[in-house]
This record gives sequence, C-alpha cells and structure tokens, in this order.
Amino acid sequence: MGVCGYFVVSWKCLVVLSFRVLFLVPPGLPVHSQGDSQTDNKVMDNITVRQGETVFLRCPQGDIVTHTAWLNRSSILYAGEDKWSVDPRVSLVTLNQEEFTIKIEDVDMTDEGPYICAVQTSRRPRTTSVHILIQVPPTIINLSKGIVVNEGSNVTLMCQASGKPEPSFTWKLLSPSGDLASEDEYLDIPSISRQRAGTYECTAVNDIATDVQTVEITVNYAPSVSEGRDVGVTLGQRGVLECEADAVPEADFEWYRDDRRIFNGFDGMEIEDAGQLSKLTFFNVSEADYGNYTCIAINKLGSSNTSFVLYVQDGNSGSMGTHVHTYTCLLLAILQFLLRF
Ligand SMILES: *[C@@H]1O[C@H](CO)[C@@H](O)[C@H](O)[C@H]1NC(C)=O
Ligand SMILES: *[C@@H]1O[C@H](CO)[C@@H](O)[C@H](O)[C@H]1NC(C)=O
Ligand SMILES: *[C@@H]1O[C@H](CO)[C@@H](O)[C@H](O)[C@H]1NC(C)=O
Ligand SMILES: *[C@@H]1O[C@H](CO)[C@@H](O)[C@H](O)[C@H]1NC(C)=O
Ligand SMILES: *[C@@H]1O[C@H](CO)[C@@H](O)[C@H](O)[C@H]1NC(C)=O
Ligand SMILES: *[C@@H]1O[C@H](CO)[C@@H](O)[C@H](O)[C@H]1NC(C)=O
Ligand SMILES: *[C@@H]1O[C@H](CO)[C@@H](O)[C@H](O)[C@H]1NC(C)=O
Repeated sequence: MGVCGYFVVSWKCLVVLSFRVLFLVPPGLPVHSQGDSQTDNKVMDNITVRQGETVFLRCPQGDIVTHTAWLNRSSILYAGEDKWSVDPRVSLVTLNQEEFTIKIEDVDMTDEGPYICAVQTSRRPRTTSVHILIQVPPTIINLSKGIVVNEGSNVTLMCQASGKPEPSFTWKLLSPSGDLASEDEYLDIPSISRQRAGTYECTAVNDIATDVQTVEITVNYAPSVSEGRDVGVTLGQRGVLECEADAVPEADFEWYRDDRRIFNGFDGMEIEDAGQLSKLTFFNVSEADYGNYTCIAINKLGSSNTSFVLYVQDGNSGSMGTHVHTYTCLLLAILQFLLRF
C-alpha cells in the first residue's frame, strides 16, 4: 500500500493497488508490473451513449489471463466474475478467454467518465481505458412566466434548458408569426409595441433532440375608438349607433347624449357591450332622440371618445328599394339606347 498511497494517482499504480487488495497480495511482494515499464496502457475510442440507454464495456482478454477487473474511476465494478459494485444497473455479460464484458443499464450523467479494464496475464499487466460520454436531450427547465406589460416597456424573456451537449436556442413569435433575432437563452424586446404581443416559442436543441415551450406576452394599451359614423333613421324606426374600441385590456363603454350619461334601458334605449363593440339601440326613434351622442371607451391606461349624430331620415328617399328601382330604370334606358344600333 505504501507504494501508492490511498488516493491513487496513476492508473498503473491503481492497477497494482487494486490487485493487491483484490488478491490479497501482501504489500512489498513483487507484482509483475510493479515499478517497471512493462504495463500496456491502451486508450479506446470514447463511447457516446444517450441517457437511459445501456452501454457495454468490452475488454479483450487473450494470453493466459490470471486476473481481470473493470473499474469506474478508482472503484472496482467487477473483479473477474465477482461483482464489487452495489449498483444494480451494472452486470456481467461475458467472461471468457476472449473477452470480459460488463454492461451498465439506464446510464445517467454521473456515469460519465473513464472506465478501466485491468488485466493481469502470465506475461504482464495491461490496462485498457475507455471514456463514456453521456448525451442528454434538452429539457427547458426555466422559462419566463407569461407576462402582462404596458406598451413601451422593455421586456426580457428567459428560457433555460438542461442537456448535453449544451443546447442552443431559437425564438419565434407565433401569432403574428415571425422569427426573432435572439439565438440565446434571453430574448430582449425593447420598448414593446402592441404588434409584439402574442405567443412566443422557445426551442432548445442539441445533437440529439429538441424541446419546445411557449410563453404569452400581453401588451396593455389605452383605447382608441374608430370615428363614429352619423346615422340617419326614420321616425318610429329602429336605430343603432355602434362604437368600436381597440384596447387591452378590453374597454368599458359609456354613452352620453350631449353631457347627459345614458344608462341601459333608459328611455327605450339599450346598451349592449360585446368585446370591442358597444351598441346603442333605439327601438322606436322619436323626435326627441335626434341629436348628438358620444361614446367613451375607458380602460386603466386611458380613454378615447367619438361622437355621432342621429339625424332624421326621410321615410322613402333613403330606402334600398328606391335605389334599386332607379338603377334598374337607368340600365333599361341604356340597354334600349344601345339596342337601337
Ligand atoms: C474523449 O472524451 C474526453 C472527454 O470529453 C476528451 O477529452 C477526449 O479528447 C476524447 N477522446 C477522443 C478520442 O475523442
Ligand atoms: C461511476 O462513478 C461515479 C462517481 O463515483 C458514480 O457517480 C457513478 O454512479 C458510477 N457509475 C457506475 C456505473 O458505477
Ligand atoms: C429560474 O430563473 C430565475 C431567474 O434567473 C431564478 O431566480 C430561478 O431560481 C430559476 N429557477 C430554476 C428552477 O432554476
Ligand atoms: C428601456 O431601455 C432603454 C435602453 O436601455 C432605456 O433608455 C429606457 O429607459 C427603458 N425603458 C423603460 C420603460 O424602462
Ligand atoms: C313608436 O312610438 C310611437 C309614439 O310613442 C307610437 O305611436 C308607435 O306605436 C311606436 N311604434 C312601435 C313599433 O312601437
Ligand atoms: C357632439 O358633441 C361633442 C362633445 O360634446 C362635440 O365635440 C361635437 O362637436 C358635437 N357634434 C356636433 C355635430 O354637434
Ligand atoms: C374626447 O376626446 C378629446 C380628445 O380626443 C378630449 O379632448 C375630450 O376631453 C374627450 N371628451 C370626453 C368627454 O372625454
């Protein structure tokens, strides 16, 4: 033991130590390899395996093998057919003249690292080392929560993912759709506009797989109402004033006749709000109803208004039937005129 100390540095030492422990060689007694340059150290190609899969570690034997072992770093997994590892995922596959193969099932990140096969032959000791590399599909572990901001705010979205190799990122605005510049875990949106509201998609990708998640940005802004169109209604008929407001969050509406607030059910009028639209309906327009109406749309960020004039319309002149009749007559006249030639 004194030769190497407990924490073995070189693999050659390790092999000697392991074998001493293994076969209870008294310290000090010569072991074939001790202190000479007779050991063969071979490095095999790295083995790349995905998390959850099974990896086989195969070690050629040959010559007359007296002792053989597989080690994970400095701990013995198998010494010949004796299992030293307590890990149930590790098991013996083949042990014969040609090969000594063990397998590790359901590999995980912690299994990554060097594995050594140490072989003691009649001639000289030999080690074969192989590096296991574990690949892990990306998983988005920390994505910004959906946010609600006011127009003009600076917004940063974050999307953190685990995975091996390190995942790379792309960002996309789904609706309205568009790819975004960031190739990073972070997406900066300076002074966000209402057009930039929507569903953002973060994609984390590495050599083996992809993970996608989405996050919603809501952009609040003050209402803007479309200009009111004056409406002509015949006395005793039904009339409707429509007020449309673009706002987030949705606006509340107020209707005024000049300076007087109108409430639902008031004087045979009905106010009906549906999302962006508010309708003021007169079921039976009377003389007193003609006049100037104002609609105000309000949300927590502000308000906007527009005015309408409800005016008297002559019972006949505006009606569709009259128009159609006029046009039909005109067309017939033109037709007759043309047919003369
Ligand atoms: C094996 O993997 C190790 C650790 O990632 C690396 O340093 C080494 O260059 C790789 N060797 C080969 C042959 O790919
Ligand atoms: C290999 O060693 C590492 C570090 O001690 C340990 O976390 C891992 O579980 C071991 N793997 C096997 C298959 O023994
Ligand atoms: C997610 O990121 C935030 C901000 O960097 C951090 O405070 C939080 O601890 C992270 N959560 C997890 C689960 O990593
Ligand atoms: C947004 O960022 C710009 C540039 O960094 C800064 O000048 C501005 O004050 C920020 N706006 C807000 C609302 O924080
Ligand atoms: C409309 O109002 C007038 C006057 O109040 C009334 O004479 C008429 O019957 C009403 N018409 C309808 C359809 O209710
Ligand atoms: C209607 O009322 C609004 C608000 O009082 C006013 O600004 C507008 O000029 C009026 N329109 C007409 C045609 O009188
Ligand atoms: C209607 O909007 C104008 C600006 O567009 C504003 O000056 C006025 O005060 C508003 N009227 C009401 C009743 O909110």
